[in-house]
Amino acid sequence: MSEQTKEKIDNLIYSYSPDVSGLVEENKFLRETLENLKKELDRFKKTPLLLCEIKELLEDKAIVRLQNGNEFLVEISAEAKEVKPGDTVLAEQKNLTIIKKVKATKHFNVEKFVIVEKPKTKWEDIGGLEAQEQEIKEVIELPLLKPELFKKVGIQPPKGILLHGPPGTGKTLLAKAVAASTKSSFIEIVGSELVQKFIGEGAKLVKEVFDLARENAPSIIFIDEIDALASVRIEVGTSGEREVQRTFMQLLAEIDGFKNLDNVKIIGCTNRKDILDPAVTRPGRLDRLIFVDNPNDEGRKQILEIHTKNMTLDKKINKEHIVKKTKGMSGAEIKSVCTEAGYFAIRHNRTRILVNDFEKAVEKVIIQRDIETTEHKAMFG
Ligand SMILES: Nc1ncnc2c1ncn2[C@@H]1O[C@H](COP(=O)(O)OP(=O)(O)OP(=O)(O)O)[C@@H](O)[C@H]1O
Ligand SMILES: [Mg+2]
Repeated sequence: MSEQTKEKIDNLIYSYSPDVSGLVEENKFLRETLENLKKELDRFKKTPLLLCEIKELLEDKAIVRLQNGNEFLVEISAEAKEVKPGDTVLAEQKNLTIIKKVKATKHFNVEKFVIVEKPKTKWEDIGGLEAQEQEIKEVIELPLLKPELFKKVGIQPPKGILLHGPPGTGKTLLAKAVAASTKSSFIEIVGSELVQKFIGEGAKLVKEVFDLARENAPSIIFIDEIDALASVRIEVGTSGEREVQRTFMQLLAEIDGFKNLDNVKIIGCTNRKDILDPAVTRPGRLDRLIFVDNPNDEGRKQILEIHTKNMTLDKKINKEHIVKKTKGMSGAEIKSVCTEAGYFAIRHNRTRILVNDFEKAVEKVIIQRDIETTEHKAMFG
């Protein structure tokens, strides 16, 4: 074979030999894709882990609580040996073995739902409730301001009080005034909201509220409409009722869980003491009951003074006369009378309020109340 032919053949062979480097690349790429898809498939096959909370450790086991409230005694896997009560953990679905701890957001959202405020209400803003003020000063204000006094004397102030009485009589006002006088954070929760808005989360919210109160201490936890949570009328049948019951149990546990001289106090509030579960007012809980009634003549006079303080009244106005006209009204209604009287003056292009404005205002507020009572009766019987 001549040199020339050999070169030709070589060239020919070279031109036919395939370029394998591209294929190697492609092969590698396909392998990686296959790996990824396998992993993805595994992820789809895995059963989800359950989120639960550790209640208690018992030797090498733990009592966990699921979000539906059920509790189980379970095993702890080797990787999760460090868990403590209160931790949020992931548990395997079948036998609930604890797999690992997760970082749970501490306040699940409590700051979103609960307002922490520093009220500015003064005792002088409240009319006709001297006896109630006195009692609140003794059982809430004094222990917060001078806990050492109680230690020395050796008595335990109540953890909380229950304000009860008809609507609009100044219960919220009293609670805010004591928060202001003790420079406490005022944290308000409303029983009916806890029941309706936070379905499934009520108990958790209660717990978070107490944590929040401790973090912001000194604090007053104000529980309005506490009867919505703690009513003897609630039968524990439906899951909704069980949920209310759970929230209520959590509330009792939280109240029991702190000490009388901790700088957190609870003020419960209700218009329906008659249906309230007595568990709330048992000794050691909200065991000081303070009745806040509609004001008497002297009370109405004081309330009228408070709400007309910044109004321009006609000099001839006889306040005693208005006080008589408002007999049977609550503080909130007297406030409405003042506002309405102001509107009657405005409608007549006056800035000075006459006795006649007050008379018409009283009538209007009474009519308004009658309409509301009829509507209420029609709705609730
Ligand atoms: N004793 C009072 N002195 C002065 N103002 C009062 C008094 N009672 C009620 N008011 C006026 O009525 C408003 C509503 O009162 P408040 O919210 O304290 O009533 P409440 O007893 O908490 O009522 P409810 O039971 O309906 O919650 C107050 O903001 C205040 O303007
Ligand atoms: Mg109120």
